[in-house]
Amino acid sequence: QMDQFISELMAKMTTEEKIGQLNLLTSNWDTTGPTMSDDYLEQIKSGKVGAIFNAFTAKYTKELQRVAVEETRLGIPLLFGYDVIHGHRTIFPISLGEAASWDMDAIREGSRIAATEAAAEGIHWTFAPMIDISRDPRWGRVSEGSGEDVFLSTEIARARVQGFQGDDLKALDTVLACAKHYAAYGQAQAGRDYHTTNMSERELWDTYLPPFKATVDEGAASFMTAFNELNGIPATGSNFLLNDVLKTQWGFEGFVVTDYTAINEMVPHGFAADEKHAGELALNAGVDMDMQGSVFTSHLNESLEEGKVSIEKIDNAVRRILEMKYRLGLFEDPYRYSDEERQEQTIYKPEFIEAARDMARKSMVLLKNEQQVLPLKKSGQSIALIGPLADSKQDMIGSWSAAGERWNKPVTLFQGLKEKLGDQAKIHYAKGASYEFDAKGTEGFDEAIAAAKKSDVIVMAMGENWRMTGEAASRVDLDLPGNQQALMKELKKLGKPMVLVLMNGRPMTINWADENVDSILETWYAGTVGGHAIADVLFGDYNPSGKLPMTFPRAVGQVPIYYNMKNTGRPIKPEDPEQKYVSRYLNTPNTPLYPFGFGLSYTTFGYSDITLSADTLSSGASIKASVTVTNTGDYDGEEVVQLYIRDRVGSVTRPVKELKGFEKIMLAKGESRQVEFEIRPEQLAFHGADMSYGYESGEFDVYIGSSSTDVKQSSFTLTESKTLQPAKAP
Ligand code: IFM
Repeated sequence: QMDQFISELMAKMTTEEKIGQLNLLTSNWDTTGPTMSDDYLEQIKSGKVGAIFNAFTAKYTKELQRVAVEETRLGIPLLFGYDVIHGHRTIFPISLGEAASWDMDAIREGSRIAATEAAAEGIHWTFAPMIDISRDPRWGRVSEGSGEDVFLSTEIARARVQGFQGDDLKALDTVLACAKHYAAYGQAQAGRDYHTTNMSERELWDTYLPPFKATVDEGAASFMTAFNELNGIPATGSNFLLNDVLKTQWGFEGFVVTDYTAINEMVPHGFAADEKHAGELALNAGVDMDMQGSVFTSHLNESLEEGKVSIEKIDNAVRRILEMKYRLGLFEDPYRYSDEERQEQTIYKPEFIEAARDMARKSMVLLKNEQQVLPLKKSGQSIALIGPLADSKQDMIGSWSAAGERWNKPVTLFQGLKEKLGDQAKIHYAKGASYEFDAKGTEGFDEAIAAAKKSDVIVMAMGENWRMTGEAASRVDLDLPGNQQALMKELKKLGKPMVLVLMNGRPMTINWADENVDSILETWYAGTVGGHAIADVLFGDYNPSGKLPMTFPRAVGQVPIYYNMKNTGRPIKPEDPEQKYVSRYLNTPNTPLYPFGFGLSYTTFGYSDITLSADTLSSGASIKASVTVTNTGDYDGEEVVQLYIRDRVGSVTRPVKELKGFEKIMLAKGESRQVEFEIRPEQLAFHGADMSYGYESGEFDVYIGSSSTDVKQSSFTLTESKTLQPAKAP
């Protein structure tokens, strides 16, 4: 039925009308790129627009839709897209923070709520999930993804697509997902946004592509091309990435949109002679929709007449887009998502706010807690609350915060503490320092020191401002910006217990704080009710359970640093760490400040040795690896039990360990639980020397523990090799 409807519609369409469907323009409601289309309304009227982004609210989308439906010849409804990344109105923690929860149900639920709110404001399509593996914290966009690991990121990619799209695209509380940025954007050279990426095909297949493949398997409706070039070819013009891998090998049935003006950018990339040429390269490579570049509408007709592109390619792109409009039910009722009453009843629902608070608590990572300064006492303890992020609404929700009303909605930490403590509150607040890069003096220090002197404990809310993360927010250092650390040093002289509450969007080099501050809580940008969630954790109403999804380096010179690196031929000998002629730095250990998977709790957990159900593994069989985890401390708490595996020898060198499983469990104090992982040969597969995908027989180490470095160890033998997929044709 759908096919027939679309065929009949397409039979009526002129070439210009078809090309119009491939055109996505921004409205001027929000700015997410360098150009703006002031005439988008005129263009809609002339049938030259298939989709609009950066427009929302039931009223506004209804008005734009009316123009498309009533004032164009065929009345084809518009598709409305928006960057609903970590919440729409109710903002959840930034995606990197959500990843730190290692809680797939909560992540799925967060995306479901975002979809529900967005769909109630007329939005059909989100530009999420962002699933770029990121190993360079200089890159501001690490905040938008799930960190450095392929296994964790793949699980999260699946959960987010499920959350956004649900089981039924037509349901009024779902939106189309968009897997972005395809591909390898996270490896931008030197962490500079939009920069070149170069990597081996093996690294691409083993590390960067699996999350994207998983979203195809989950039925993701769309893909967005990345801005970067990959091995010399811009992703937006990559026949290999789009036609060969995505559409042919993976059988992707949705549509491919470019990133903002990414077609036009193939000219400065030095890949296309001019914009017309760029449009031909993009369409021929497999792009279906042009975001904001107007290249297709300006030139594609001429390219068609010249035989540079075929009508079959244009038709294929149009069909993919119309299919999604059909599946959303827009041909039955173009206004079905734009319902002001539903909008009113849906946004900021109390249960959404509660879910955001819960997710925020789960995302927080306790990095240090010496002398058990945390949890704080609710009475009998006065608090100095200091720092530029302690009472800053706009920073609480980080970048890409959609319609989150950053200037008035978010709850700050100061508000959260006051509400938590009520009349008992003895809080002495002072901003004290500045997070601006150029802040150097000591302005505000005296006030902060005075507040600290009057208090029993010093809580410092410090980090980056929200503009320092996200797109076009790369940094050359990872230090706390401005004079924040200078203020911490002054406060340290008072000899009082000190707690650092970090708010930031990337791993940072906080060595001084690690050595000098008693407790450090990583809270990322915690969202609309972030201040309440942080207060919950600081006072022990929630026992922190987050684990780092990305390694924190000691120095920016260690970057890229990630847990599953290769061993090298000259690894450091632990018994002789100062040895010359081994792979190390002269002035900093190779180890990170905080490793991947790390995060403390107010309680402690003991791990038994690993029990394996067998010490050999063959095709079709599995081994069960189990440990008993015991809550050995004084609080009930959650633990993320992590499984890593090392393939000791391969036809290509293998990482020192790779995450292969995890389970988040709740243990009451004193309680023990057995946690069991199943290991199957398929989990051990990789792209070997001939680029076939399969597993190779040999010895494997198994690690289970509470982080990538704090583990128990065992081993088994895989008795067989097997090719699961032959090498791809070059
Ligand atoms: O979705 C984003 C993308 O991640 C970066 N450039 C702009 C797009 C649309 O706002």
